[in-house]
Amino acid sequence: MENSIEEIEAEALQELAAAAGKDEIQELSVTYLGRKGKLTRFLRNISNLPPDKRPDAGKSANILKKRLEEAFKSAFEKMDLAEAHRIEAIDVSLPGRPVPLGTLHPITQIIREICAIFQKLGFDIAEGPEVESDYYNFEALNIPKNHPARDMQDTFYVSENIVLRTHTSPLQVRMMEKQKPPVRIVAPGKVYRCDSDITHTPMFHQVEGLLVDQDISFGDLKGVLTAFVQQIFDEQTSLRFRPSFFPFTEPSAEVDILCVMCRGKGCRVCSQTGWLEVLGSGMVHPAVFENVGYDISRYTGFAFGMGVERITMLKYGIDDIRKFFENDYRFLKQF
Ligand code: DAH
Repeated sequence: MENSIEEIEAEALQELAAAAGKDEIQELSVTYLGRKGKLTRFLRNISNLPPDKRPDAGKSANILKKRLEEAFKSAFEKMDLAEAHRIEAIDVSLPGRPVPLGTLHPITQIIREICAIFQKLGFDIAEGPEVESDYYNFEALNIPKNHPARDMQDTFYVSENIVLRTHTSPLQVRMMEKQKPPVRIVAPGKVYRCDSDITHTPMFHQVEGLLVDQDISFGDLKGVLTAFVQQIFDEQTSLRFRPSFFPFTEPSAEVDILCVMCRGKGCRVCSQTGWLEVLGSGMVHPAVFENVGYDISRYTGFAFGMGVERITMLKYGIDDIRKFFENDYRFLKQF
């Protein structure tokens, strides 16, 4: 006989108490009760005992076998319970996991900033359709059919008389049709042109402005745009008006700002000129007033239009307009 039944019992219970998991209990059960297990061997060897010792030895070995079977089973169940508790337990002292928040698209942010500046100057916000009639997009703005000025804007035609608006200027006409002067509006929105490269996308955003009242002069236009430019960029940003042509304004001017990169010294961004074009503007053409039934002997007004992507690119030093629309989260989350 190798071990006495008492020794086997003491050893088994001690090892079971030290077992750390279900796998270890399983192993112990093999070590003691398996085919070559210690208790199994003990039982098998009983026939080698003197005949008078056999009945007692058999009896106590069988009792121990039952006891160990039960002990292993209940240890196993206890492990299951502990495991279930571990899964269910919530550690309320752990810090919360951060939930990533989205941000407004940079274009949306700048549109809001632009509108807020003009709202402080007394302008209202206006909006209109992106699918527009030829009349509002062109005719009413003094751009007749076959006029060469239509070449300035590569148009997406929906049908002969319906277009995707090429600019937000139709809002001038729509708002003047709706109300008598004074009119003070800015109109942000999407516009469409058949054009695509690093500074053009087929869809982009503009903000149109219009102010009509009695005695409005070019000086008012300059004052309003200077206030705007110095708020959207900074106070050191000077601007200049450069004579230009738009069919719906007379006189017309393009507005340049002192280059935000080199402050006028000349660099790659401003093509060494020191200036950056940021918007078109002018005094509303009398033909436009006549189209909406305004009395041209009483009223004058100014209008302007700017590209939001361009302003955003200059403000943040972005060199490729397509970045706005690729939806690369690493780019967008910087704003
Ligand atoms: N609509 C013009 C464009 O898209 C921009 C513009 C120029 C708007 C002069 C105006 C303006 O209101 O007066 O190129």
